[in-house]
Amino acid sequence: MAAAAIAALSFASVPCREHQLRHGASTFNAQQFSASSSHRHTANLKSGGPRRLRAAKRVIVAQAGTGRYKVAILGAAGDIGQPLSLLIKMSPLVSALHLYDIANVKGITADLSHCNTPAEVAGFTGKDELPSSLAGADVVVIPAGVPRKPGMTRDDLFSVNAGIVKELAEAVAEHAPGALVHIISNPVNSTVPIAAEVLKQKGAYDPRKLFGVTTLDVVRANAFVAARKGLPLADVDVPVVGGHSGATILPLLSKARPKVPFTDEEVEELTARVQNAGTEVVEAKAGAGSATLSMAYAAARFVEASLRGLDGDGDVYECAYVQSQVVPELPFFASRVKLGREGMEEVVASELRGLSEYEARALEALKPQLKASIDKGVAYVQQQQEAALN
Ligand SMILES: NC(=O)c1ccc[n+]([C@@H]2O[C@H](COP(=O)([O-])OP(=O)(O)OC[C@H]3O[C@@H](n4cnc5c(N)ncnc54)[C@H](O)[C@@H]3O)[C@@H](O)[C@H]2O)c1
Repeated sequence: MAAAAIAALSFASVPCREHQLRHGASTFNAQQFSASSSHRHTANLKSGGPRRLRAAKRVIVAQAGTGRYKVAILGAAGDIGQPLSLLIKMSPLVSALHLYDIANVKGITADLSHCNTPAEVAGFTGKDELPSSLAGADVVVIPAGVPRKPGMTRDDLFSVNAGIVKELAEAVAEHAPGALVHIISNPVNSTVPIAAEVLKQKGAYDPRKLFGVTTLDVVRANAFVAARKGLPLADVDVPVVGGHSGATILPLLSKARPKVPFTDEEVEELTARVQNAGTEVVEAKAGAGSATLSMAYAAARFVEASLRGLDGDGDVYECAYVQSQVVPELPFFASRVKLGREGMEEVVASELRGLSEYEARALEALKPQLKASIDKGVAYVQQQQEAALN
């Protein structure tokens, strides 16, 4: 495949369109992620401007095969892990892609390595190979764990996934202490506090580097709002705050761009659809798992955004579930954050000001549930530690 085709395959590591959003003192561009076409890249290159030039440079870098970041995926053989690996293999910013799973990843590694995009792929199977899979990683993505079946809540996954995330966070603390860590494994509301506690115990916790991946909630909100209001998809940007489970997922339609009016019925209907979208997929799959393709897409968007931040793009914003003080009683909270060279540089607190009455009520209502999930994660790690000492 010609180099130009490689560029065409790669994700837009530059926003297709910028939304200048002003909230009080803070100004930012909401980044859009989309599978770019060669046409779009060509358009980017022709239309000039510093961002376009940066885009052009990245495409050239990709063609030369000199992306410089190492990404490790833990749980790479799974239904999310596989398409996510493929999407990350297409990033011009990635030089090395490490696939780790307790299941055999040799075949997936061989398969993926035949794609003639620059990232070198290496596979690591079983716990003995976990340390090598993490060595030198800039970003560690964790989709390891069991998914929901119909009738289950995300919290029902806690008993299995808490242990998996704990074990993997311990390995990250030891073998990739400086990496950004993206947690996909559910229940995210609890698994992120679990990872934080483990990293703290190991002296490797940097709150700027730990993220619960809630990008799928944003992707869904954007898709549903665009469809409902007949807007071009690339124009729509809906921040989603709170957590990643049921009523803790709160799309802020009053802050959606472009600014369009929503009736009360539309707000209720769209909010409920975003909150239940995961269940919609679980039920449609009828026992064969939860969202995997849209999740892989969303996680790849978040990885790409994080890499752009690491790479010095000073204008990268995404929603994520992070340690935060924006809601004082909730030590972890999803909101829009600025991504930079050290990970999270700033939480955009201004977006939580001036909420609609509906949103303000929903925010109050979600607090006890989210707090309980955070506390459950913290208590789990403490209990495990006590059990280990006895
Ligand atoms: N954050 C989100 O928005 C979101 C969305 C959808 C799914 N999820 C979650 O993502 C997780 C994965 O979903 P899936 O559909 O890919 O599941 P899956 O069962 O298809 O894949 C999970 C993979 O994890 C591996 N694994 C299990 N224990 C491991 C360990 N200790 N170390 C390394 N790998 C291990 C398994 O071998 C398997 O390959 C689930 O917890 C699911 O709930 C999150």
